[in-house]
Amino acid sequence: MNEVVDFINVNRDRYVEELKQYLAIPSVSALPQHAADVRRAAEWTADALRAAGVPHARLVETPGNPVVYGEWLGAPGRPTVLFYGHYDVQPVDPLDLWLTPPFEATVRDGEIYARGAADDKGQVFMHIKAVEAHMKKAGALPVNMKFFIEGEEEVGSAHLDECIRANKELLAADVVVISDSTMFDRGIPSICYGLRGLAYFQIDVRGTKTDLHSGSFGGAVANPAFALAQILAQMKDRGGRVKIPGFYDDVRPLGEQERAEWRKLPFNETRYRKELGAPRLSGEKGYSTLERVWARPTFEVNGLLSGFTGEGAKTVLPAVAMAKVSMRLVPDQRPDRIAELFEAYLKKVCPATVALTVTRMHGGKPWMTEFDNKYVRAAGRAIQTGFGQAPVFTREGGSIPVVSTFQEELGLPSVLFGVGLPDENAHAPNEKLDLGNFHNGIIASACLYQEIAAV
Ligand code: BES
Ligand code: ZN
Repeated sequence: MNEVVDFINVNRDRYVEELKQYLAIPSVSALPQHAADVRRAAEWTADALRAAGVPHARLVETPGNPVVYGEWLGAPGRPTVLFYGHYDVQPVDPLDLWLTPPFEATVRDGEIYARGAADDKGQVFMHIKAVEAHMKKAGALPVNMKFFIEGEEEVGSAHLDECIRANKELLAADVVVISDSTMFDRGIPSICYGLRGLAYFQIDVRGTKTDLHSGSFGGAVANPAFALAQILAQMKDRGGRVKIPGFYDDVRPLGEQERAEWRKLPFNETRYRKELGAPRLSGEKGYSTLERVWARPTFEVNGLLSGFTGEGAKTVLPAVAMAKVSMRLVPDQRPDRIAELFEAYLKKVCPATVALTVTRMHGGKPWMTEFDNKYVRAAGRAIQTGFGQAPVFTREGGSIPVVSTFQEELGLPSVLFGVGLPDENAHAPNEKLDLGNFHNGIIASACLYQEIAAV
């Protein structure tokens, strides 16, 4: 193992140069104009796997973006690790807020800035380089490995469940390893044992067939912008509780023991608030900030559009208003059930003066696991080696829809070992990845396979 770690240390700068090329591909899955780039990123990922010593890495087609699949099965009798990650990235707008171009990776103060640096190309590449180090130094991996790297994670992984169900044998393994989450804080590596789910919708309301003069018609017909605001105002009460009837029915209550564990984590609420630039924090009454994000469901408005928003003033009654909304879900809420409850409530609170259309966008199931198992303990030891410190155990507010599918369809536990930081601007302008964590993450990943070999 020492030789492998030495190799990783010697190659530190080369890894960064190679990562820059990966980050240069604008694989934005949400935007159709980037379809060719998305495919190019898939090819690049497969090439990188082959170069690392996974000989037949290839693209598996889906009705959407291809999955990159590769395997190295040269360790009979040893466990098989299924590595999952995603090569697609979020859109970059607003572009003018980026200090350097999102697809020209730039290193400043030990961080690499680019879309996808943390979420998730940097973390995927970390594992590819860990594999390469084993192959170069030992000519073999300590475990069998299968790679399953998708290109639709950022748009809800719509075709992945089907792909998994159709390839159960191909994907048979002992444990899933994922690096697509964050560390608790700088210098505090973590293993994540819970993720929230998601239910996402677009709401359109129409008041009239066209925009109208607000003097000639204002007062005689409903204003859809106002109607939409009234609808949205019905979604939460003043205590931050979601008002959709039945919304909390399946929520697994947070146990006292878990709450007590979280209170021990070094969370500084004032620093958190100041870093976010929020005048005050806000959330569901009766829960701490960590509890609100990790263990409670929520309703959010992701975007709003209506009427005249240009410079100056225009006296107009908009014909339409639109909102994108989403709910983060926790165990044991189900996105389909929540969608039914939401749509029923929406119909009830929508005034009869406007026409309503609801469109279901994407969803994902929440996930949570018992983390007292041999794979998690193996990861703990690997993180100790890579980061010089044992990990803390966290849940996260974000979603990775496929994790619950791995559990349900393949019966596989997942180990989520992420090296992003909460302030690395995932999904926002100036996304970055700390290069120290990237490097330690390569060492920890290499150690992880070694540790899993011995469980
Ligand atoms: N890497 C994130 C998920 C994540 C975020 C995990 C923060 C832990 C902490 C992932 O790429 C992501 O953004 N997922 C989407 C999924 C959605 C589109 C279904 C999300 O959470 O919004
Ligand atoms: Zn993401």
